[in-house]
Amino acid sequence: MTVRLSDKVALIIGSARGIGRGIAERFKEEGALIVLADSEAETGAATAAALGAPFICVDVSQKADVDAAVALALSRYGRLDIIVQNAGIYPWQLLENTTPEDWDRVMSVNLKGCFLAARAALDPMRQQGGGKILFTSSITGPHVTSPGHGHYSATKAGINGLIRAAALEFSGYGITVNGVEPGNILTEAIQLHRSPDFIRSMEEAIPLGRLGSVRDVANAFVFLASTEADYITGTTIIVDGGQLLPEGNDFRLAPDRP
Ligand SMILES: NC(=O)c1ccc[n+]([C@@H]2O[C@H](COP(=O)([O-])OP(=O)(O)OC[C@H]3O[C@@H](n4cnc5c(N)ncnc54)[C@H](O)[C@@H]3O)[C@@H](O)[C@H]2O)c1
Repeated sequence: MTVRLSDKVALIIGSARGIGRGIAERFKEEGALIVLADSEAETGAATAAALGAPFICVDVSQKADVDAAVALALSRYGRLDIIVQNAGIYPWQLLENTTPEDWDRVMSVNLKGCFLAARAALDPMRQQGGGKILFTSSITGPHVTSPGHGHYSATKAGINGLIRAAALEFSGYGITVNGVEPGNILTEAIQLHRSPDFIRSMEEAIPLGRLGSVRDVANAFVFLASTEADYITGTTIIVDGGQLLPEGNDFRLAPDRP
């Protein structure tokens, strides 16, 4: 079996469940030495125990917490090769009902969290001569949006800007900065909170005919974290089953159409 992240030390923030847990699982399968961080103490500890990984409870919007997560990886394994900032919140809220405090919270976790992660990883990665900084962006914000996702969309578009700026500034240190833009992914949360009808209607909007799995997203992270992506920086990979492609709703060819 090919192991693509053999002995690479990877810190994954926002890894208690969902896409982040999927990234942690895939990285471990590929031979990485993973360290998990999340704001959910119980779920995070349970996930870490299941994966045999160290865990630290953090709020990614707090500099001291993010620094402590990087320090844990360094003290446990002596280096930091990969950092993934995947933690994100997406409260449904129309702009007309969004208070400045609501706005600041989503910005702090989703966008400032990525800045803090990049900033915390910079020194150790620079000292060791390189590293890979990865963020979870979204198709929502950079390309499309829907009502109720104003603050969220702004953060994810902002993450793509941060990816480009950090990639350029860190290029002289051998550090690459990239991201993944998931489409609609079938996480535990979506399965719990959305009706089968809603999920079916989402499937109909996706050319490949299904929602993505956390592994679909995690596979893109594995590639960007691996040496196969050494010459890629400042960009994102869209993992959306073709959702962004259609010009209109009627995109399926009828079977009897020539
Ligand atoms: N699920 C999707 O369809 C989808 C699509 C596009 C992008 N995304 C992005 O993928 C990422 C993961 O989403 P998910 O669907 O797996 O969500 P999720 O809520 O299942 O997982 C998010 C994780 O981040 C943690 N977290 C939240 N706030 C935190 C904080 N302040 N500090 C540290 N950890 C915190 C949560 O505890 C949780 O473990 C998010 O950035 C989200 O915006 C998800």
